[in-house]
Amino acid sequence: MEKLYPESGVELNPFVSKNYDKLMNILSFGKYKGFIHRAIRDMKIGADDAILDLGCGTGRNACLMMRYLGNQGSITGLDISGFMEEQFKKNCSKYPQAEFINHRIDLPFQLEKTYDKVFISFVLHGFPQNIRDNIIQNAYHHLKPGGTFNILDFAEFDMHAMPFYYRIPFQKGECPYAFDFIERDLKKMLSEFGFSHFEEHLYFRNYARLMVAEKIS
Ligand SMILES: C[S@@+](CC[C@H](N)C(=O)[O-])C[C@H]1O[C@@H](n2cnc3c(N)ncnc32)[C@H](O)[C@@H]1O
Repeated sequence: MEKLYPESGVELNPFVSKNYDKLMNILSFGKYKGFIHRAIRDMKIGADDAILDLGCGTGRNACLMMRYLGNQGSITGLDISGFMEEQFKKNCSKYPQAEFINHRIDLPFQLEKTYDKVFISFVLHGFPQNIRDNIIQNAYHHLKPGGTFNILDFAEFDMHAMPFYYRIPFQKGECPYAFDFIERDLKKMLSEFGFSHFEEHLYFRNYARLMVAEKIS
């Protein structure tokens, strides 16, 4: 797949796409599973929620979210990777209410329905700021009034103040857009698009965060 944003670390190569979940487990020294469980619990998913997952990846997160959903709940995952599509469909095969759509999230788009929750996990940091703005706008357009945008990603922190054993893997493994993202005020960014009533949950020694932002009207 050709990269639209050559410096992006979220437009994944085939090896990383095919082995994404395993790599996350290894790179986090086995802590990823517990972390993602906690973050999804903190989203306070309701049984009937319709959830839109932007850059959904392998469906690992969708399967965890499905545990909170009843028969009326649903998940729509959007992603551009064929490798991710294959894994999503396999992983979520027992959940008929989990669908995958091969769709870009970085350009303005309009799906036919609106959602109670929009979720985006470790995707937003990987784009230039004007593209992050497109994604936030897409999330806003696809939420029902009172719905929430749930952003699981790096928190705001000073990379140079990190202990070396965290800083070196972060500097080597992440893309320049991530270095920019951690210095930005996410609440301010979201407020500019009309989001408010923020709730924050911090994980991984405060280097990762779930930001929950509400669409008021
Ligand atoms: C770092 S992975 C995160 C996957 C998943 N959200 C998770 O937390 O496990 C980034 C994902 O974003 C997808 N992606 C990258 N650029 C995209 C775009 N423009 N539109 C939709 N998906 C995109 C990739 O294919 C990949 O699945």
